[in-house]
Amino acid sequence: MKLIDAYRETIRLFRDKIPNFQLEALLILSLVLDKPKEYILAHQESELSEAEVEKIRELIDKRLSGIPYAYLKKEKEFFGIRFSVEEGVLIPRPETETLVEIVLKMGPFTKGLDLFCGSGIIGLTILYSNGCKEFTGIDISQKCIDVSIANASRLGLINRTRFIMADIRSLSLEEDFDLIVANPPYIPDDRWNELDREVRSEPREALLGGKEGLDFYPEIAKVISKNLVREGVFAVEIGGKDQVDKIRQIFKDYNIINVNVENDLNGIPRVIWGRI
Ligand SMILES: C[S@@+](CC[C@H](N)C(=O)[O-])C[C@H]1O[C@@H](n2cnc3c(N)ncnc32)[C@H](O)[C@@H]1O
Repeated sequence: MKLIDAYRETIRLFRDKIPNFQLEALLILSLVLDKPKEYILAHQESELSEAEVEKIRELIDKRLSGIPYAYLKKEKEFFGIRFSVEEGVLIPRPETETLVEIVLKMGPFTKGLDLFCGSGIIGLTILYSNGCKEFTGIDISQKCIDVSIANASRLGLINRTRFIMADIRSLSLEEDFDLIVANPPYIPDDRWNELDREVRSEPREALLGGKEGLDFYPEIAKVISKNLVREGVFAVEIGGKDQVDKIRQIFKDYNIINVNVENDLNGIPRVIWGRI
């Protein structure tokens, strides 16, 4: 089969089923051939091997079954940096860049703590941008810890990181930090069925935050009030306008009064942050 025929076939199968189907068709081909998209367009007449055709069809089937492209590629770009991801680990979202931007403006810091580290993107991006000297990442999932360690190694940051598998609900850290960040699961449980099929292929425990999506904010406030030094900075991602006042109140219950709210690029309240 020629490359152009494989491209046309992929487009035909993706049309009406996958958003940006033309781009995604190119991405699938470039993933299988391990070449940039431009190569596919410039070598339309080249012949594919049987193994390549088989691999393309396998990836088309997986993509059509709702598996996000990032899981097929096992990689996602965040803040201009390539991170490894895999099934069982949340795919980094562009809106989380808002939190990183705030931290980089407020820093530099010495000792950072990332409470729901997932693939490690928040802490590692801050370290990579020299916004902090060292970071501790915590996650309940061993897979997330493994992926975070792999990302730290890939970026040459392993000596400045520590990743701990722990449940934040029973966390007891006897250490101080001058920066605490968190992107907790914050989608209300009953919204699960409304989420896109692709999003539902990501881990539930990375997305759902209880009845109102707020279950983890008291835990975060507890850690901030106990482990953040005076003049230290916290930055926490939130799920939008409906959660702002309730989270302010939760933080107030822990004596965290100085709380600012920052919108993401879509104008949605996305980060609460402050210096205590
Ligand atoms: C929204 S994801 C954030 C991942 C990453 N920080 C990011 O921004 O892409 C939330 C993470 O919290 C972890 N998590 C869920 N419940 C937890 C708990 N009780 N204790 C610690 N981590 C938890 C999940 O495994 C998931 O990796």
